[in-house]
Amino acid sequence: MKEYFKLLKFVKKEIGLLILAFICMGISTIFNGASLGMIIPVADKVLTNKKIIVPHKLPDFLNSLIDKINSLEPLFLLKVIAFSIVVLFILKGLFVFLQGFLMEIVGLRAVVYVRTLLYKKFQELSLDFYSQKRAGELISRITNDAGLLKYGLTYGLTDLIYQSMQLAMFVFIVFYIHPKLALISFIIFPIIIFPVMKVGRKLKKLSSRSQEKMADLNAILSETISGAKIVKAFHRQDYEIEKFKKIVRDYYKFLLKSAKRQLLLSPFTEFIGALAAIAIFLLGGKDVIEGKLSFGVFGFFLGSLMSMIRPFKKLTQVHAINQQALAASQRIYEILEKKPSVEDRPQAIPITALRDKIEFKEVWFKYHPEEDFVLKDINLVIKAGETVALVGPTGSGKTTIFNLLLRFYEVTQGRILFDGVDIRDIKLSSLREMTGLVTQEPVLFNDTVRANIAYGKLSASREEIESAAKRALAYDFIKELPSGWDTVIGDKGFRLSGGQKQRLCIARAILKNPQLLLLDEATAQLDSESENLVQKALDNLMQGKTVLVIAHRLSTVKKASKIVVIDKGAIVGEGKHSDLLNNCDLYRKLYEFQFSF
Ligand SMILES: Nc1ncnc2c1ncn2[C@@H]1O[C@H](COP(=O)(O)OP(=O)(O)OP(=O)(O)O)[C@@H](O)[C@H]1O
Ligand SMILES: [Mg+2]
Repeated sequence: MKEYFKLLKFVKKEIGLLILAFICMGISTIFNGASLGMIIPVADKVLTNKKIIVPHKLPDFLNSLIDKINSLEPLFLLKVIAFSIVVLFILKGLFVFLQGFLMEIVGLRAVVYVRTLLYKKFQELSLDFYSQKRAGELISRITNDAGLLKYGLTYGLTDLIYQSMQLAMFVFIVFYIHPKLALISFIIFPIIIFPVMKVGRKLKKLSSRSQEKMADLNAILSETISGAKIVKAFHRQDYEIEKFKKIVRDYYKFLLKSAKRQLLLSPFTEFIGALAAIAIFLLGGKDVIEGKLSFGVFGFFLGSLMSMIRPFKKLTQVHAINQQALAASQRIYEILEKKPSVEDRPQAIPITALRDKIEFKEVWFKYHPEEDFVLKDINLVIKAGETVALVGPTGSGKTTIFNLLLRFYEVTQGRILFDGVDIRDIKLSSLREMTGLVTQEPVLFNDTVRANIAYGKLSASREEIESAAKRALAYDFIKELPSGWDTVIGDKGFRLSGGQKQRLCIARAILKNPQLLLLDEATAQLDSESENLVQKALDNLMQGKTVLVIAHRLSTVKKASKIVVIDKGAIVGEGKHSDLLNNCDLYRKLYEFQFSF
């Protein structure tokens, strides 16, 4: 129940529309009963010209209405009934449309609301969240689960309220007309309800598992689409197809299983309903023969009983739909209720410039509590205006140092100080505003070249963007592109060479003009001309900045004011190129392998 209220929270803002929709449902329910009630005068007066007999006392206005109808001429009554039926159906149709439309608005608005909320949360959450979940799974929260939620809110909620109203009205009618007969019919009801409840519970479990299968499908799709190059290079198409087939087949089996359960449910309930009707018919027929009940009223009674089957059937499906929506809502809340692991402290202060130095003081770090330390007792000083180079074997923890400086993750022990201030006391936005990051792999967005560079400074003028491109040595090749500055970079920049992509990323960083630059030199092989251009672009970018660079090039380490050698998460050497060559074995080895060209 609590879960259901949480689901309803998504439509809290639409409460006015919801009430209006419920009112429309109520009105159309009454019209529904009234149109069925037309059976009475048609059967008793128009067709047989007898009297309407109700087995007990009615309120005065109904009595006088019946008396009036009883005294009417059949032909005249027929015309009145024909006219009333037309009016009733028009009105009923109007209100059915209105309630459906209103509920659709409510559902669609809820989807917009949930999707926006989720997307905001994605942006707010820290990087550890992204490394724990697969992209496909996250995408499916916004696409699939939000859709299921809408289905539940629009159709599930409509049926829950609308069909309950219908059911309540018909229950009232049958008990009003003939309590004893009504009671007998209701004894049969639990026999229907019990299996329905059981199947509903099973469906909930199946739905949640089939969602997981869908997430698998999404994940493998986004992985193989973005990794198309690798799949082809390794010639693993068949392997991927097999993997994909298995997931699709599993998903099919799940869907078939739940479809079977859902489909079996309705013939079953209908059959039991029919049995009940036969029993009633036998008993009620006797009362009609004895003249205790008129034929029309008995027809109305039977019609009302029959009319309960549909709402009841729908209500049992509502249970399944709602279970699906509830499962989706739970998965959505799981994300919405997550707290970002890195957040501003209440008294966080903004910084505008680095005046003196950045200091790592006895910094220890691990990505997961149960894993080993990735950084061990790091002590490091980066003076303002200096270029410090980090070198070390793969997996030694170089990128991790960047991650901590940008506060993508919090240090496990120790402190990182900016001019003596712990970075946990600095406003995240100001820290990232003054820092520029160029990653090992260029990351570009599916947008125009201009927009990709302007990402560094959204308010940049045309001139600023072009001058940044010039300094990144990207200007010339951009002009040659098919649509120049407005060329859209395909997914992951398929249309550009590695060196060109890197220079666009550098232009973006130049435009941002950060005081502190974190540079992860690309290890990807570029041809020497391209390499040269990228190197020059980087030199332009690094001018006048405090730079921490993960170095893979000899020219970079030689230019650095200080080189820091990292091995297995610890600093094993620090100094100038020539000193380290003499007194650091690892550096000498790295120099021989990595920098010897
Ligand atoms: N998001 C993460 N979650 C868990 N462990 C991680 C994560 N990122 C990196 N690691 C682990 O931390 C260690 C250091 O990784 P890091 O990326 O800092 O190495 P690196 O020195 O940058 O290596 P490379 O030169 O290959 O880029 C590795 O053992 C790696 O497996
Ligand atoms: Mg790295």
